[in-house]
Amino acid sequence: MDSRWSMETLLIHAGNDVVTAGPHHPTALPLYTSTSFQVESPELLDQVMSGKVAGYSYARHGNPTVAAFVAAMMRLEEAETGIATGSGMAAIDAAFYACDLGPSDLLLLSRDLYGASLNLASTVWGNTGIRVLTADFCDLDALQEILEAQHPKALLLEMISNPLLKVVDFPRLIEMAEKAGTQVIVDNTFTTPLMVQPLVLGADLVVHSATKYIGGHGDAMGGVVVGKDRYHDRLHQYLKLRGSVLGPFEAWLLHRGLKTLSVRFERQSANALELAGNLLHSGHFDKVYYPLLPNHPTSAIARQLFGTIGGAIVTMELKGGKDAAYSFIKRLKLVGSATTLGDVYTLCLYPVIASHRNQTPEERALMGITEGTVRIAVGLEDPEDLTQDILNAVQ
Ligand SMILES: Cc1ncc(COP(=O)(O)O)c(C=O)c1O
Repeated sequence: MDSRWSMETLLIHAGNDVVTAGPHHPTALPLYTSTSFQVESPELLDQVMSGKVAGYSYARHGNPTVAAFVAAMMRLEEAETGIATGSGMAAIDAAFYACDLGPSDLLLLSRDLYGASLNLASTVWGNTGIRVLTADFCDLDALQEILEAQHPKALLLEMISNPLLKVVDFPRLIEMAEKAGTQVIVDNTFTTPLMVQPLVLGADLVVHSATKYIGGHGDAMGGVVVGKDRYHDRLHQYLKLRGSVLGPFEAWLLHRGLKTLSVRFERQSANALELAGNLLHSGHFDKVYYPLLPNHPTSAIARQLFGTIGGAIVTMELKGGKDAAYSFIKRLKLVGSATTLGDVYTLCLYPVIASHRNQTPEERALMGITEGTVRIAVGLEDPEDLTQDILNAVQ
């Protein structure tokens, strides 16, 4: 692996060399389904299980196909350690675990997170005695006050928030978090390492729902946590003890997904930009959100952080609330209705009954999610066809 290779080259080759078969190197990544590995001697098994010697013993401790996927993700995010998990939710859970949160520690969350991430923190982790606080991370003065006064043990944010696509002034956030001694976890699902590499900018841990853009085809669920070397032991302990490992077939699919990520993601982002512009100019929506559109309140920092790729999500505010949203979804013909994103197919989601169904109407209102909010995860179809389908459904 050459350290000068670009992201496009790494997407094709990273991880391929983790699994080798002597002098014969398979071109495609081999799929190891075995749950255990027969080690030559008890002495060697002891060393493998203690981590002193690299190798495989039991699939919950490690699997070569999964290791190849993790190695690729570490390379793409410029991480020193990493694990793969059974889902994106498990990856967030593992990141919290890696931060070693204990009773009375404060976990600070961006208010604009995927609903289940907020619920995981407030219910599962809240029940362990830690304190959980949410804040508007776009209000940097308020954020600074919390960091200076309360020194949270860790904080979590999404690089582009779900679903209103807000972007935080990340370099400033990192500076403030460093001063406060707060560990920074970034959910990079919406952005992928193609748009931003949060570890390079100073984050401590990065999580992904690999179910989304990394897999890209809606056929594999998985998660990833990558980060600085000091998290290695706790991340691996999480896998061994909590057991939420990624299956080898899913790892194989996700690793294959990486090979086309740059082509898919760049095209999907370009489609999204075109669609967002068309929808904005149609005048049929109260609001159209896309990170790079000048009407988005955080477009300046989005441009600074991401350049010309703005991601592949467009969110709109329909006139007429829930009734209008339901009839819009039912009238869509090309755009499917499904509770995911990142696939090659364009999909529509209604946050009130899906991603943010467990938030109260007041909590949703604070985030800016209304009864008229719909989210479009743009795929690879012709943006003109998508525009027509959406405008036909809204009228
Ligand atoms: C930003 C974000 N993070 C994490 C998750 C959870 O991922 P998974 O569904 O793979 O558990 C999701 C799911 O939609 C998400 O949108």
